[in-house]
Amino acid sequence: MNLLDPDLFRRSGGPPHELFKAWRENDPLHWNPPNPDYPPPGIAVPTRGFHVLTRYQDVADVSRNQRVFSSHPGGPIIWDWEGEALRRQQAGLMGMPLEQHRAVRRLVVPPFTRGELLAFQPEIDKVATEIIDEVAPAGQCEFVFDVASKLPVYTFCRLTGVPDEERDAVANLGNMNADVENWGSPEEGSLTKELFQIAARVSAEKLANPDDSLMSRLVNGEVDGERLDPMNLNMFFVTISIAGHETTRGTAAHFIRLMNEHPDQYETIRSDPDRYLPNAIEEVLRYAPPVVKFRRTVTEEVELHGKTLEPGDKIYLSYPAANRDPAMFPDPDRFDITRDNAARHLAFGIGPRACIGARLARMQLYSLLSEIVARIPDIRSGEIERMRSIWFDSIIRMPVSYTPEA
Ligand code: HEM
Repeated sequence: MNLLDPDLFRRSGGPPHELFKAWRENDPLHWNPPNPDYPPPGIAVPTRGFHVLTRYQDVADVSRNQRVFSSHPGGPIIWDWEGEALRRQQAGLMGMPLEQHRAVRRLVVPPFTRGELLAFQPEIDKVATEIIDEVAPAGQCEFVFDVASKLPVYTFCRLTGVPDEERDAVANLGNMNADVENWGSPEEGSLTKELFQIAARVSAEKLANPDDSLMSRLVNGEVDGERLDPMNLNMFFVTISIAGHETTRGTAAHFIRLMNEHPDQYETIRSDPDRYLPNAIEEVLRYAPPVVKFRRTVTEEVELHGKTLEPGDKIYLSYPAANRDPAMFPDPDRFDITRDNAARHLAFGIGPRACIGARLARMQLYSLLSEIVARIPDIRSGEIERMRSIWFDSIIRMPVSYTPEA
């Protein structure tokens, strides 16, 4: 059993929770050895082993402590990049040094604040209605791409400033980047290069015609009196094209899956969506977080669970494991939409690097799922296909059927 096995989640029908339970109880700083067969050539260089954290408090504490457990030296993902590839990871928002990260986050945070998102809400609701208008009369569709994917793509393109005609290309490239084990990469980094080209076009346009989009804020903004480097801009674009899509789409699909598995709880939501749906979304995020892990790199010698960690050691933060810690969530393997502390899950991370899009994601999910509950309430899923991945616990195919809307 190795967390660097891209077939693990498919084989286990999701994260290996029995194993996480054993580690959480007896081996809270579990050593995961390298996997000689992964990553395959052409995707990244061979990856060293790492320590896995499965307890809620450990994942939260390490996430908050960027000084000792940093996202910068090795970047935020578990692969051991080198040279130019490592510099790219460090140039993205998620891998920047802390001071620069703070300053860039200040530039990009305004569109994600409550007030700005409330102003955006009617547009999100309108798109959600149009998505369901399209599929409701048919009585069946492929949920992931016909429904779940469309609102996040629209939203992040609109926020970022991607013109309408480039939206499909950005969505496809973001998907292929997230789904890298299936798609492979004909030539190292070629998907990223194509996204970089679109990012460069959008950046040039926003430099010439500033507006309130995210890319415009980044291109025209300054950190310590200086403009950001093109690599910072490009990597921000790549991050959003994956982070803003795959995750929200995956959560919507898990919601439908879990409602099919727990019809009684779905009935409860249907009885009063305003009351039950928001917490049900939190419980879906707790129970089946779409992002499986992020990485931290140790910066100084530190003791953890009786072991001495050295600078350069890698930590794997397991969100699915932390979210099933009984010390935080009593009876954690029970899916319960009325759980009173469901929203304390770590699906969005926590601390200075926590998800910037959490409020937006919740808003989109509420908008789309409330439309489904109201208009195609008897939605049933057929056989689902999980993504082959070490990054995401995601569903990539989910045929659904329902009574056609008149
Ligand atoms: C259900 C949906 C989502 C989930 C579960 C999710 C999860 C996460 C997680 C776990 C992190 C990293 C935390 C860390 O390293 O400590 C993160 C960071 C991030 N997410 Fe999300 N995310 C979601 C939606 C979104 C959306 C909709 C956007 C934007 C449109 C977004 C943009 C970002 C960005 C830019 C970061 C990097 C933040 C930083 O480094 O300061 N995410 N997300």
